[in-house]
Amino acid sequence: MEKNDIIDLLNEDFRRELMASMIYTQNSFIMKECDPSRVTESIAVDEMRHMWWLADLITKRGGKPTMKHEELDFGGEDKKGMLQRQIDLESTGIERYTYQMKIIDDEEVVGVLEHILAEEKRHRKEFKERLDNLK
Ligand SMILES: [Fe+2]
Ligand SMILES: [Fe+2]
Repeated sequence: MEKNDIIDLLNEDFRRELMASMIYTQNSFIMKECDPSRVTESIAVDEMRHMWWLADLITKRGGKPTMKHEELDFGGEDKKGMLQRQIDLESTGIERYTYQMKIIDDEEVVGVLEHILAEEKRHRKEFKERLDNLK
């Protein structure tokens, strides 16, 4: 895979991590109950760390991380909607990273994506547990 194609993929990942960190931060402010709010807040910080890791890979390969993002979808006003939205974001991330690890032939990138993927799986599990507790 061409270096520029890798940079493009990583930039799309970076923008998705940026959106996740903003959405989770906002949702953590709004969620009324302590436990899901704290979990969402702490995962927002993980997503920001993922941004750092991706930005490092991007700049090392001569690219520039882009902060442009789409309009944010927070999942609604109630906790159920927010948690479902967060689970969906994690699922899309898991799909993307799993696929990218198969097609990218750059050992360093694949190593970082593997680490991020493991965290996204844990995030989804944490959010699912909170959603199940509401039912
Ligand atoms: Fe992430
Ligand atoms: Fe995540």
